[in-house]
Amino acid sequence: MTRKILVTSALPYANGSIHLGHLVEYIQTDIWVRFHKMQADTQCFYVCADDTHGTPIMLRAEKEGISPEQLIDRVWNEHTSDFSGFHIEFDNYYSTNSDENKTLAQSIYRKLRDEAKLIDTKIIEQFYDPEKEMFLPDRFIKGECPKCHAQDQYGDSCEVCGATYSPTDLINPVSAVSGAKPVRKESEHYFFKLGDDKCKAFLTKWTQTPGHLQAEASNKMQEWFESGLNNWDISRDAPYFGFEIPDAPGKYFYVWLDAPIGYMASFMNLAQKLSAVSGQPSAETMFDEFWKEGSSTELYHFIGKDILYFHALFWPATLKFSGHRTPTSVFAHGFLTVNGQKMSKSRGTFITAESYLQHLNPEYLRYYYAAKLNGSMEDIDLSLEDFTARVNSDLVGKYVNIASRAAGFIHKRFEGRLIAQEERRQPEEEELEIILLGSEEMIARAYTERDFSRAIREIMRLTDLVNQFVDQNKPWELAKKPEQEKRLHQVCSESLNAFRILTIYLKPVLPQLAAKVEQFLNLEGKMGWQDLKTYPADAINAYEHLMTRIDPKQVEAMIEANKATLAPAAEPHSQARHAEKQVNEVQPAGTSIAPIAETISIDDFSKIDLRIARIVNAEHVEGADKLLQLTLDIGEGKTRNVFAGIKSAYAPEKLIGRMTVMVANLAPRKMKFGLSEGMVLAASGDTPGLFILSPDEGAEPGMRVK
Ligand code: MSP
Ligand code: ZN
Repeated sequence: MTRKILVTSALPYANGSIHLGHLVEYIQTDIWVRFHKMQADTQCFYVCADDTHGTPIMLRAEKEGISPEQLIDRVWNEHTSDFSGFHIEFDNYYSTNSDENKTLAQSIYRKLRDEAKLIDTKIIEQFYDPEKEMFLPDRFIKGECPKCHAQDQYGDSCEVCGATYSPTDLINPVSAVSGAKPVRKESEHYFFKLGDDKCKAFLTKWTQTPGHLQAEASNKMQEWFESGLNNWDISRDAPYFGFEIPDAPGKYFYVWLDAPIGYMASFMNLAQKLSAVSGQPSAETMFDEFWKEGSSTELYHFIGKDILYFHALFWPATLKFSGHRTPTSVFAHGFLTVNGQKMSKSRGTFITAESYLQHLNPEYLRYYYAAKLNGSMEDIDLSLEDFTARVNSDLVGKYVNIASRAAGFIHKRFEGRLIAQEERRQPEEEELEIILLGSEEMIARAYTERDFSRAIREIMRLTDLVNQFVDQNKPWELAKKPEQEKRLHQVCSESLNAFRILTIYLKPVLPQLAAKVEQFLNLEGKMGWQDLKTYPADAINAYEHLMTRIDPKQVEAMIEANKATLAPAAEPHSQARHAEKQVNEVQPAGTSIAPIAETISIDDFSKIDLRIARIVNAEHVEGADKLLQLTLDIGEGKTRNVFAGIKSAYAPEKLIGRMTVMVANLAPRKMKFGLSEGMVLAASGDTPGLFILSPDEGAEPGMRVK
């Protein structure tokens, strides 16, 4: 019987770029999906979408002077191109702002209200911005911490002392949207009665049933239950970018109500596309097969640990009480740190997907994450030094090396043919292949359990064995002795066959490399999991370089580029993109001053060529909300074009004629808007404000700054 599996990753917010933290999740899910798609008798779908609703997206669009629809369209394009750049292969990537999602959200709400009787209303009092005429989410209110009296803290928690509180506890609150003093105002809200007995009973059982959640997640749930289950506020007042609640004019679904329904909507949209092919069942039939109560298919959600509450409580309850099936499992992963610390813009470790792809091969990162992920909720660290060393030694030094050592002989001396099956066997080769195939189950189990690090360790152990086999048999010496011709053929054939097996094992992690190997071994379409035991019969193609080493300079350049474009871009409200979520993935480390960086030598410093420059022109950049385009005169009639993230602090006309300091020997960077040929220096901390440097009177363009 065919196994039918539907897999999702959390839907990224449509107001920010995909970064390396997000990619932990999408790469993890993609590997798991690809592994399952390689299995015979398994039908596996992977769907996702952009999460497009809510206040931050509405305000962001307003700030950019575009409609929310324009913003989410643009971001959808960026996200899909980032994902395909990392070989994340969705069967469908949709949007929560879709007709399917609206219909589903409203019908689910009606079932919860009319059949399950789980919707209630209550008047609540909230902060309201009288200037903007809108209610303010906690994260859009700032003020003095009631506990430690730090200034400029968010409405839900203090970044200085860590206290959590409600916005009404803040001293001297102000609206982060308009700066106005918020007033308290009453409004009727709609609630999902999570605290209702039948709901509580269901959730207690669901969260404690083995298999639904990881043990660490079940325990967390237990703690939450003990502190009491509150009813869940699912409405927001206009103005709000989202779906209207039926029969409740001016009220909208809170983004977290319709976001997970976006999983269903994306699948519905896929089902419609699939059913358009003749002979396929209707979209409704396919949809019901995966979503109707009592369904025998499997449903898995991959998420980060910060959104566990939504997926382990609200979501199963929403499904259960609206006549749908509940998830087979929710798999939560930990958060990414870079070099042991939170990703940070000032250190250049807040790396966007797009910027990574400008510098490095996506499969390096897929491999490194795979080597680190173990299926738990622990955080994972991307140590850039270890990343470079590991990729170079494992993938290039060990794995690819096997092919490059054997391919030339097979190609030149044996017309591209591996030795015939009947001439093949010699005791040690037999042993090698048997050992390699003997690990199949263990590797498959590790993939299934999302313990990719265990799979990688085993595959690398096998890779070492294959290299030992080559070292012992020394094909380069056999090649010099005509009487050893057959032996040479045997040894090279065995190592290439072993390389084929290793490639199948690595294929979920390295899909593009595997595709190149398929082409090289002339085995297109013949490298599924069930092909492990099939010795290749056809002639292979000439070997072409499969993967190059990482040059540490590429990593350095990436870090520099992220410092250059992101560090000065801190805007007053940039943190607000995480509004409406308790845990924040990116917060600058420290409170206001970044720690002093690692010591460098005078030689290191003198590599930086700093020059006095005159800003001869400055203009806005169409479509960029942070950048100004500067033309810099650096003496002797030479000019440089530089994009600087200083728009939040300077009007272009104020800059023209001014002297400043620039890095003149920074590698030029291709940006969406053109080539940036250097960087101007500006000071910034974690508090708003940005200050470009100027020399004293008398300095001339082109002078070196030392
Ligand atoms: N829109 C919600 C999810 C709705 S699902 C119905 C959301 N979006 S997000 O863009 O903030 O995050 C998307 C996923 O990426 C989440 O699972 C989140 O945990 C994960 N990550 C975001 N930053 C991360 C790290 N720094 N490290 C690891 N995963 C992180 O939450
Ligand atoms: Zn405090």
